[in-house]
Amino acid sequence: MLILSFESSCDETSAAVCEFDENKKQIRSNIIASQIETHKLYGGVVPEIASRAHCDAITNITYEALDTAGVTLADIDAIAVTNTPGLIGALLVGVSFAKSLAIANNIPLVPVNHIKGHTAANYFVHPDLKPPFLALVASGGHTSLIRVDDYTTYTTIGRTRDDAIGEAFDKVGRVMGLPYPGGAEMDRLASIGNPNAIKFPSAAVVGDNLDFSFSGLKTAVINHLHNCDQKGESYVKEDIAASFTKTVISSVTKKLEMAYEATGLDKIVIAGGVSANSHLRAALEEFCNKRQIHFYMPPLSLCGDNAAMIAAQGYYEYLAGVRGDSALNAKASGQ
Ligand code: KG4
Ligand code: ZN
Repeated sequence: MLILSFESSCDETSAAVCEFDENKKQIRSNIIASQIETHKLYGGVVPEIASRAHCDAITNITYEALDTAGVTLADIDAIAVTNTPGLIGALLVGVSFAKSLAIANNIPLVPVNHIKGHTAANYFVHPDLKPPFLALVASGGHTSLIRVDDYTTYTTIGRTRDDAIGEAFDKVGRVMGLPYPGGAEMDRLASIGNPNAIKFPSAAVVGDNLDFSFSGLKTAVINHLHNCDQKGESYVKEDIAASFTKTVISSVTKKLEMAYEATGLDKIVIAGGVSANSHLRAALEEFCNKRQIHFYMPPLSLCGDNAAMIAAQGYYEYLAGVRGDSALNAKASGQ
């Protein structure tokens, strides 16, 4: 079957056409219009600007997605759209557009959760990946440890209690003068810095839980930078990035280890923008290899927000009978 999908939960407007059957998951097109250059001017995503930019882009990227895939709306079997979680105004653009298209053309409409979509990006490249598994979704807006019992049943077993992991990367990057979003540049700097230069506090919440607190870690790094400035001392950005990254990774592996022990699930999947981090990818691969855990990560092209991942999850939601009707709405947070 062919699914036309939409993603507009934050600062990327994306439309994709993907083909699915029991043995095939193929991306025919995955068009992404990024707003990053616009938001860079403000050092972060400005919600109203994001909504307006989605409005500007969504019609043309839909044509482009259909054209690139070599299909028309008449060939489409279902329309999938992110309806939660995300910026409400941004989500509403995608939901309203997808709903209109579905109703006008009598095509089934399938609402998709963005977090599930990130995880489902892995199905395109790992045909052997099947639930149950543990997923770590790490992005600019989310940090969740999830038990995926079947394709549509997700149970969050750990989460951040404050900032998302990507948000912490971006905020530390901003204080060091890196352009928004700083995550990718922090990754590059960390590769040439000393990870043992500075000891920062763990982001793993102490105790018998699977939660994180990236706000505490972020504040500790920012305080360190301000202290250096006040004393007139210089700091080495590469060392800050490397030490921060090392702390993030050890916090994540600590909670993943606890989750593995608690659930006995021997498959770990990572997803979301921060899963593009080269150090996190290498460290988790090593962590899993040592314990004979199967490790799955998306290709770099599918780590960030994109509509193909929404189609992948949409396929399983469609099979499970999930449908949106004319009353489908967006939700800023929720399942
Ligand atoms: O999944 P995504 O595109 O959007 C959300 O759903 O939030 O994730 C964007 C986040 C940003 O915070 C960005 O800085 C971060 O992913 N990111 C990275 C890397 N590439 C993107 N963080 C660390 N290392 C990277 N290589
Ligand atoms: Zn995302």
